[in-house]
Amino acid sequence: MTRIKVYGGQKLNGTIPISGAKNSVLPLAVASILSPEGLKLNNVPPLVDVNTMLDLLESLGAEYDRKSESPYADVVELRTRSVKNPKASYEIVKKMRASILVLGPLLARFGECEVSLPGGCAIGVRPVDLHLKGLEALGAKIELRDGYIRAVAPKGLKGTEFRFATPTVTGTENIMMAAALADGVTVLRNVAREPEIVDLANGLNKMGAKISGQGTDVIVAEGVTSLRAAEHRVLPDRIEAGTYAAAAGITGGRVDLAGENLPELLSSFREKMEEAGLKFTPFKDGLRVEGSGEIAPLKVDTAPYPGFPTDLQAQTMALLCYAKGRSVITENIWENRFMHAAELMRMGADIAVSGARACINGGKQLRGASVMATDLRASVSLVLAALAAEGDTLVDRVYHLDRGYCRLEEKLAACGVTVERVK
Ligand code: EPZ
Repeated sequence: MTRIKVYGGQKLNGTIPISGAKNSVLPLAVASILSPEGLKLNNVPPLVDVNTMLDLLESLGAEYDRKSESPYADVVELRTRSVKNPKASYEIVKKMRASILVLGPLLARFGECEVSLPGGCAIGVRPVDLHLKGLEALGAKIELRDGYIRAVAPKGLKGTEFRFATPTVTGTENIMMAAALADGVTVLRNVAREPEIVDLANGLNKMGAKISGQGTDVIVAEGVTSLRAAEHRVLPDRIEAGTYAAAAGITGGRVDLAGENLPELLSSFREKMEEAGLKFTPFKDGLRVEGSGEIAPLKVDTAPYPGFPTDLQAQTMALLCYAKGRSVITENIWENRFMHAAELMRMGADIAVSGARACINGGKQLRGASVMATDLRASVSLVLAALAAEGDTLVDRVYHLDRGYCRLEEKLAACGVTVERVK
């Protein structure tokens, strides 16, 4: 089993290139199903989740060429003319919940499909009921049998009005992609507003879709009969950027994050980090983040964008372990996303978790320990906490990390920080 060894007492100081966003490239790759003409994606991050998604598309009959444009970005050309097997098997879907995104596009292109129910994951049950309700509103007939979702739309998908009971990122993406090829106009309300949704809508419009309102809580899709080949550059990963910003705060260091639009993409996270004492200075195509060595306690409530991102909650908890005083984090999106707390407590953190609320009595010096990653963002929060701890830390189950962070050791090494993989 590979582990990551983190030497304590280190300080970040350097430049980090921010890779393309995992949660944007996954739906964009699936959008290639909507047109047999092909889709070329630039700035694709070399991540395990991207490999999984490409495997899934290949299992449906798609083909692709992938080449490296830098150590931190690939170019992927997808061709789905040969897709004919509209069945996404449990073996692949169980590896990554985002596989559910093929449901809408397969239904829109082929009029029928079978997709395994994704099942839950470490952070929660993660239902897909709103995905299914949205497709039914578009005229699909949905049947759940033997762990599979079977969807058919014998007369094609029809434009409709649909309101999501709660904002859902992949739910919005699934229905928006299906609506792009529906007959007539679709109005979606209470949609998620994440930048990744805007990026997907912009990519679909380059393919000839007619989508508007992305980034607001109402998206309108005017259905078209077919989409064409297009090329699109994946936007920078705001969660990766926020992760390294937190690392600068924790270590009292300074990091130049290289990527376009980062100040805007980091929005509410940046405001909270400034409250904690971090300093942000935008520069052309980048953002400088400086930790001051002093961290102020915070009250954090996660919420759908533009609120505080749940995907930066674990990293913020690591930072608040070093704050002088008592902080409170309320996790409003996922019902079980505090598993990193128990691991941070092994390093000496004083955290009390009760339901959706975690109270962190910061200010104690953490000490290195052997800890275990439980999910993607929890794993990186342990690495961050370990950077400022006394002594060394061994983080187990690093496969979680590789799902969403590309070349983490290299990016940290370029900032003078040593973390290494050990068997
Ligand atoms: C996306 O997951 C992200 N993944 C997650 O990032 C992120 O944590 C999440 O959005 C919230 O921002 C990708 O984009 C691939 P949701 P998603 O549907 O779409 C409830 C990471 O670390 N809900 O927006 O699965 C749900 O229970 C990952 O990169 C329903 O009730 O999340 C949750 O409480 C982890 N019914 C809330 O909505 C549904 O049909 C938001 O979930 C769908 C969702």
